[in-house]
Amino acid sequence: MVIFAFAFATLLALLPTILASPALSRPLYWFSFGNSHTQTGFNITTGPLPSPGNPMGNPVYPGATATPGENWIDVATTKYNHSLVLTYNFGYSGATVSRDIVPPFADFVRTLPDQIDELVAWNVAQRPRPWASENALFSIWIGINDIDLSYALDIDHTALTNQLITRYFQYIQRLVPPLDRTPELLVQNNATIAAAEARIIAYYNAQLAAGVSQFKARHSGVRMWEYDAHAAFTRVLDHPEQYGFNNITGDDGVTPGQFWFNWLHPVSAAQVIFGKEVGELLGNAPW
Ligand SMILES: *[C@@H]1O[C@H](CO)[C@@H](O)[C@H](O)[C@H]1NC(C)=O
Ligand SMILES: *[C@@H]1O[C@H](CO)[C@@H](O)[C@H](O)[C@H]1NC(C)=O
Ligand SMILES: *[C@@H]1O[C@H](CO)[C@@H](O)[C@H](O)[C@H]1NC(C)=O
Ligand SMILES: *[C@@H]1O[C@H](CO)[C@@H](O)[C@H](O)[C@H]1NC(C)=O
Repeated sequence: MVIFAFAFATLLALLPTILASPALSRPLYWFSFGNSHTQTGFNITTGPLPSPGNPMGNPVYPGATATPGENWIDVATTKYNHSLVLTYNFGYSGATVSRDIVPPFADFVRTLPDQIDELVAWNVAQRPRPWASENALFSIWIGINDIDLSYALDIDHTALTNQLITRYFQYIQRLVPPLDRTPELLVQNNATIAAAEARIIAYYNAQLAAGVSQFKARHSGVRMWEYDAHAAFTRVLDHPEQYGFNNITGDDGVTPGQFWFNWLHPVSAAQVIFGKEVGELLGNAPW
């Protein structure tokens, strides 16, 4: 899982610019892509769009999150922000990196390129554009569904991962949460399967890390941040009491103290921890 900022130069044909001025008087624009861990149900067509006093636009805060309550991008935008941030969140439940590599569970799901297309379509119609590369942040939180939908298949996982990373290299993201510790896997109680999935995740994350380094080397005008969500999940799951949880296997969605809300999603209280950490990560930027 990664959170990163760049000038979107390739896709929107703007010159990369270093995020340099901490004294921007304009609001900052955060364009977010992702899956259910990020989804808030935002719709750029219907509006209202994000604005001061309503920084996530629609629907009403905290939005249609995957599990009840605020998620990480809600709190990173509104509570752990360092300036006024307007967040356009295209995250969509079930999203995969690319429909033709790992198809999402249903056709209607907006995959990563679909989400980017939505932003681009809106963006080309803006005269003038409200944002510029100096005050824009882009983030991608994805990869969970790609692995969840493919890890059990009898295929060449190395080839699949290389394909994913190569195809959408510019969407560099890193470190999916520890799927190997989700209730879905715990239910199977099969160490062989869990270990195999952990290996796939580790390889995926390593390839992403390599991609981030390469991307940075090639784009000196870009600032990037990587949020290691796998490490963050692992930290909480290893020391649940320190974070207010007392049950890391149950996922009935109602019992207090449980880390998981359902088979694949953490509860809001966990999302808030991650959002706070993302806010801290962006601390040296005007976010
Ligand atoms: C946004 O709303 C429009 C109009 O209801 C709908 O056609 C479109 O599918 C929605 N977009 C998303 C991402 O849900
Ligand atoms: C953070 O965002 C909230 C909600 O938009 C806003 O009221 C607040 O002023 C922002 N914080 C800073 C330090 O600008
Ligand atoms: C675990 O899964 C593997 C691969 O599907 C299978 O061969 C093995 O029998 C399973 N072990 C148990 C204890 O279910
Ligand atoms: C965790 O919660 C589940 C119910 O969702 C329960 O069955 C299990 O015993 C609990 N585990 C602990 C360690 O309390």
